Amino acid sequence: MEKVKIGLAGTDFAGRLHLDCLSSLNKVEICAIASLDPDAKDLAKRYGIPEVYDDYRRLLERKDLDVIDICLPTDMHQDACILAAQAKKHIICEKPLTGYFGKERPEDNVGFEVSKEVMLNQMKKECKLVEKAVKENGVKFMYAENWVYAPPFVKLKNLMRVSGGTVIEIRSDMSHSGSQAPYSRRWKTSGGGSLMRLGAHPVSAVIHLKHYEGLLKRGSPVRAKSVFAEVAQHCKIESFQKEDKKYIVSEWVDVEDWGVIVITFEDGSNATIFSSDGVLGGVRNKMEVYMSNAVIHMNMNPNNTLEVYAPEPHIFGDEYLVERLETKAG
Ligand SMILES: NC(=O)c1ccc[n+]([C@@H]2O[C@H](COP(=O)([O-])OP(=O)(O)OC[C@H]3O[C@@H](n4cnc5c(N)ncnc54)[C@H](O)[C@@H]3O)[C@@H](O)[C@H]2O)c1
Repeated sequence: MEKVKIGLAGTDFAGRLHLDCLSSLNKVEICAIASLDPDAKDLAKRYGIPEVYDDYRRLLERKDLDVIDICLPTDMHQDACILAAQAKKHIICEKPLTGYFGKERPEDNVGFEVSKEVMLNQMKKECKLVEKAVKENGVKFMYAENWVYAPPFVKLKNLMRVSGGTVIEIRSDMSHSGSQAPYSRRWKTSGGGSLMRLGAHPVSAVIHLKHYEGLLKRGSPVRAKSVFAEVAQHCKIESFQKEDKKYIVSEWVDVEDWGVIVITFEDGSNATIFSSDGVLGGVRNKMEVYMSNAVIHMNMNPNNTLEVYAPEPHIFGDEYLVERLETKAG
């Protein structure tokens, strides 16, 4: 098999995750990156990537690339996917696939002013456009949802399969102390708040799990039947606003920074998912699966595989400990 030739669009937080992973695969060649970041050339040098562009559309002009890996801000996903499909490139797209961006509304802040039904309908329309472009051009669309490949989740799935039990309830959580990316503050660029940005991971994982269970037991996926959600802006709590020093991100404009979603599946089972930008102590990626004959707790983060202590933050230098950890001291 020849190497798969990839062009990476976007090289900040998500792009670097992809760079680290893709560069460890020997059937993959990262031929070019596109980025507006000032350190993009240094990054390319570090990973031995020969070409750097300042616009992702330049990647699409290259005849030799098989795949475009989209790690751009969420409001660019839809256009980038359609243009990539039209250029006959297979697509890897970061989560969430899309969102509601209020493009048709001139007002700046749309989040709490537009009905959720309007948002959903617009999103569905836009997803259809991506689907159409992908089908018409005969390319693969690959949604880069990383939870479903994480070793603890793969193990969870396997234990569920072996137990043969029924998944009755799932409780899951993806939370941390707030995204560093400016695009995440506004609905117009992020397409939604914490529910969309963080909740996308556990939502994908619980849907994946119930589909898998259904395929094993009856040959067809157990699908979601209904959903309800509640959202809030905890950054607006008066006493928090008055505090001088903020340890959690507080500059949310018109997006929620907390959300809970309850999914009822067609077999009558439920999943409850929390997503918050107000949780200190490093990222929380958790799932509890309650089955008729077993219980599984997946502690992707925090976990205690390795326990470390240092009295000062500089002691562990640039070594990665835990995503979004506020300090390496202690
Ligand atoms: N799977 C995960 O765990 C995970 C984690 C973080 C973010 N994400 C997703 O990844 C996406 C990016 O997130 P981020 O935090 O890295 O965002 P970011 O805003 O920090 O980075 C966006 C990148 O896109 C580049 N860019 C912007 N316009 C461009 C253009 N026209 N041409 C080329 N490059 C351009 C920027 O230079 C930057 O490198 C989002 O959709 C986010 O939801 C996924």
